[in-house]
Amino acid sequence: MYREGLLGSGSRDVTVYTSSLKDDAEIFRETILAMMVHLNELERLGAVPGESAARIRGVLRRAAAEGIGGGDGYEDVHEYLEARLIEELGPEGGWVGLGRSRNDHVATAIRLRLRRLMLLLARDVAELRDALLRRAIDLGEELMIGSTHKQPAQVTTLGHYLLGLDELSGDFLSTLLSNYCLVNKSPLGSGALAGSMVGADRGREAGELGFVGVVENTVYATGSRYFALSTASSVVAYLTEAGRFLNNLQMWLMPQLSYVDVDPKHLATSSIMPHKRNPATVEVMRARIGEAIGHLTAMYSILRPLEVGYELDLQEATRHLWEVMGIAMESTRMLADVVRGLKVNSPAVSRDLSAFPVTAAETAEKLSLEESIPFRQAHRAVAESIKKREFRGLDPAAVVRGKRSMGAPATMIESARRRLEQVEKFKLAVDSMLKAVSDVEDEVLGGSG
Ligand code: ARG
Repeated sequence: MYREGLLGSGSRDVTVYTSSLKDDAEIFRETILAMMVHLNELERLGAVPGESAARIRGVLRRAAAEGIGGGDGYEDVHEYLEARLIEELGPEGGWVGLGRSRNDHVATAIRLRLRRLMLLLARDVAELRDALLRRAIDLGEELMIGSTHKQPAQVTTLGHYLLGLDELSGDFLSTLLSNYCLVNKSPLGSGALAGSMVGADRGREAGELGFVGVVENTVYATGSRYFALSTASSVVAYLTEAGRFLNNLQMWLMPQLSYVDVDPKHLATSSIMPHKRNPATVEVMRARIGEAIGHLTAMYSILRPLEVGYELDLQEATRHLWEVMGIAMESTRMLADVVRGLKVNSPAVSRDLSAFPVTAAETAEKLSLEESIPFRQAHRAVAESIKKREFRGLDPAAVVRGKRSMGAPATMIESARRRLEQVEKFKLAVDSMLKAVSDVEDEVLGGSG
């Protein structure tokens, strides 16, 4: 049923078209948190009578417990909540509008929601690292044919690939953490863009919400989404890079190569060709990562033409941020599951270790070192022997074992054990950060008054 909201435009179609209410389900609880802390501040300042503040808190708490429902006819969750307060309490419910703008409240809510999602994503990436490291340790020196330009290049191990993906994931976690510091600051109390006359102590409000600081400038605090762009950009950069491994998997799963096996649950057959075992999970994950790039591009496209102060286009960018974070968490978990069941198909790898001269580079290096001839000459000599089908390669396993310089396949297992310990500690740290955030937020919603 359509009801005209507090600020209604008078047209149902227009309100439905411009409303963010459906998307606001994502920040419902967080919007209430911002309202609660704002109200606490108004009460402390003596701007709102204590009994009114208590009654308002009661309604907001109930709303938080019940969740968002209905709301057809409202521009957004902020208007919906204020209307609900006025409906239940009469004009007294209108106190919450004092010194508040939806602009500072929505920026606060997005940051609260995003910081939680970032911690959850950090947890998922840590689990992926755990899967990669354990799998690499178990696979040990199981050989793999490393390729460049999609051509057989050098012998390595599957573990070496997995540990490369682990290092990428560690680098991403550092970026995520630095973005977390950017996100975890409070815009609350900034008003629409230039502050308000009520004189809120913005530092105190930030502290109550467990933010580590304040976004100082009020126009920056309300009008900017740099924190969201920066986070989504780094997430998409990670997904793009990690997703390249899916292309290796797909290639290795081609029956012509069959270098690896995955758990059959990640393969699908064809409805017409009974012999097919298509890498369904890998393909869908790649597509989802492509979509994440689309969502990020949407954010850039929406933000680019806007002035510095708030414009309603910003509301439309937020949804894409949640999409990026959702795809990141889901993909990370799915990739971890694929990795846990990843096996080397040794006969196929051995077949191609014999079929292709993947120790040619090392043979030339050895020749250059042992005969003390310039490498270019050695390179030419090995190329000639390959052309004449006279190439006698080195033993691939010995080649892998023989390389001891940092980061080479055989050196990585010890480093994997060290990394696994770090990941365990990291998981505990993220868990305690999540708990701290939850405790602070529960305190705001459940606190006395
Ligand atoms: N719903 C908006 C958003 O999600 C906040 C409202 C700002 N509206 C306004 N007229 N200034 O960004």
